[in-house]
Amino acid sequence: MKVFNSIAELHLELESIRLAKKSIGLVPTMGNLHAGHLALLKEALSENDCVISTIFVNPLQFGPNEDLKNYPRTIEEDKLKLKKAKCEYLFAPSVKEIYGQNINYQTVIHVPDLSDNYCGRSRPSHFDGVATIVCKLLNIVRPDTAFFGLKDYQQFLIIKKLVSDLALNVDIRGVEIVRDSNGLALSSRNNYLSNDDIVKASNIYRCLQETAGKIRDKNRDFRKIEIWAKAQLSNAGLRPDYFAICESHSLLPANEDDTQLVVLAAAYVGSTRLIDNLRVSTDQ
Ligand code: PAJ
Repeated sequence: MKVFNSIAELHLELESIRLAKKSIGLVPTMGNLHAGHLALLKEALSENDCVISTIFVNPLQFGPNEDLKNYPRTIEEDKLKLKKAKCEYLFAPSVKEIYGQNINYQTVIHVPDLSDNYCGRSRPSHFDGVATIVCKLLNIVRPDTAFFGLKDYQQFLIIKKLVSDLALNVDIRGVEIVRDSNGLALSSRNNYLSNDDIVKASNIYRCLQETAGKIRDKNRDFRKIEIWAKAQLSNAGLRPDYFAICESHSLLPANEDDTQLVVLAAAYVGSTRLIDNLRVSTDQ
């Protein structure tokens, strides 16, 4: 696997890839790779001649009191996993390579509306950081297709909107959520959890499934279901941040005529904030 730390060196390599008319897939990550990340890579490899994986813990998307300092950095293990999964190219730049001498002078991209609610409410400026780094990575690599997990559903919609609004010439693909045997969505932040916490955390998916069941049983009192679900999470020892039944494209609170829904959930287990979601279609 070829590893690039500099944009200039990556550009040289990409030039020859493009000359050979090979299709390019991009898989952006913050590292500490798990089976969820590797599912994106697998999909990208199956659809492209070349895949560039990226590992960059992006300071711009962390709030001042968040876990930037403690975020798990496991580059050597990550390289082994990527090699084993047959990834040929890794871009792992430094913060300086991406943001220059002063990150405060970085042009920042804000995707309005979609960024403001749910995770955007409890993590102000988080999605500006995500939109900015994703836009930079898309400009640096200029892939044909870029792959993102549906686990971060709001992030996925924001990236689709960013690409559409800025007329970027790339296909954005969503990849299904990978879960552990209890249903807990895999996440690098699961590393912060004890065994007891992991059992507690699996209630998030259980609640999402029970909510989907109620919706499929034609219960349309969405606001009441949301209150019920938050109470379930609290009773299981979690601290719910939000639990929302939304229209799946706009993320507006769903109303009874909507047929494409997504249930979004965020909850704290101790001080660790976890997110998950489940899409539900009601038209048969
Ligand atoms: P990170 O949390 O490392 O996730 C990288 C990619 O893997 C994202 O597209 C995310 O949705 C996907 N992913 C994570 N866990 C997953 C799971 N259990 N199943 C399926 N896909 C999963 O998301 C980010 O990094 C950053 O915000 C990034 C987009 C790289 C920008 O910095």
